[in-house]
Amino acid sequence: NMSQLQDSFGRRFHYLRMSVTDVCNFKCTYCLPDGYRPDGKPTFLTLNEIENLVAGFGEVGTQKVRITGGEPTLRKDFTDIVRIVADNPNINTVAMTTNGYRLQQHAKEWYDAGLRRINVSVDSLDPKMFYQITGENKFDQVMRGIEAALEAGFERVKVNAVLLKGLNDKDLPRFLQWIKNTPIDLRFIELMETGLGHDYFNAHHLAGVDIKKQLEREGWLYDLPSVDDGPAQNFSHADYQGRIGLIMPYAKNFCASCNRLRVSAKGKLHLCLFTENGVDLRDLIQNPSQRDELISRLHGQLAQKKETHFLHQGITGVTQHLASIGG
Ligand code: GTP
Ligand code: 5AD
Ligand code: SF4
Repeated sequence: NMSQLQDSFGRRFHYLRMSVTDVCNFKCTYCLPDGYRPDGKPTFLTLNEIENLVAGFGEVGTQKVRITGGEPTLRKDFTDIVRIVADNPNINTVAMTTNGYRLQQHAKEWYDAGLRRINVSVDSLDPKMFYQITGENKFDQVMRGIEAALEAGFERVKVNAVLLKGLNDKDLPRFLQWIKNTPIDLRFIELMETGLGHDYFNAHHLAGVDIKKQLEREGWLYDLPSVDDGPAQNFSHADYQGRIGLIMPYAKNFCASCNRLRVSAKGKLHLCLFTENGVDLRDLIQNPSQRDELISRLHGQLAQKKETHFLHQGITGVTQHLASIGG
């Protein structure tokens, strides 16, 4: 029962993406264009539930937890969440993905609580385009947050930009200029088609391979993946302090190296970003005495994980938008 989580395709899962809220204060056009709309009064995972959840996953192989949302830092107890995850003896890496709007003020505090890796979404380096995509005029604030994170000593600061035809597709030179002297990992993410995003996808999807060809022409070299790498293909260049990663979910075999599981802010296990609606774990994370039962449910579910998301076969994921399960 205590063996490591593994699926029927031989993949192992040492990485948990745990969403702690569905709420977001940005309105990114590819995600929540109308902003967050609550359905009823939302009740997100409590500190006690988070502690029991992470303890369960930790016993069956989870070593890295990424805290996601919505915007995770909107939780008033965000620092306590970081501390609880970091205090689990099985977890060696605590990460989070954020829109960055609270980073400048809190980077140091979160580092001291045990957070070690931060991914920040910055879809454009042109403040006007940033506003057009995110619906928020917070470009300068987010950039100052990234500076603060670099100064606070985080192991890795990554920046995500979703590639969008007709929007930020002219920003590549500016992004390259930025990472010449800034030691961040900049990742370009291919837009994924969500349940609500069908028309948007057709209008704005841009293939990552085109960026890849351009980088190769300009002397960027492919880095071999390291063990705990995510789905990005990484590139580096002698003249640049930063690196570039390409996340291309439509590429052949993208899912073959899948190493992550997800839990939504309401405590549902998602075996994949797209293939199912999630299975409730909440009833089994109320008390540490439920640990064995929780672990049995996890093993039982893993056997049902599908091989891929099937997006490349033209199937739109059942997931309405990524804010509900943290991307
Ligand atoms: P690290 O490697 O830990 O930095 O994580 P990451 O790249 O997975 O993290 P991040 O939260 O920054 O996600 C970046 C983008 O990759 C988001 O758009 C995610 O939705 C996407 N992504 C991450 N994991 C998966 C995955 O398993 N499948 C798919 N299709 N997309 C993913
Ligand atoms: N396609 C690709 N990336 C997306 N994100 C949110 N929705 C989508 C989508 N439909 C990204 C965010 C953030 C990361 C967690 O997921 O921009 O950087
Ligand atoms: Fe894993 Fe699903 Fe992502 Fe593919 S789409 S890498 S199977 S979570």
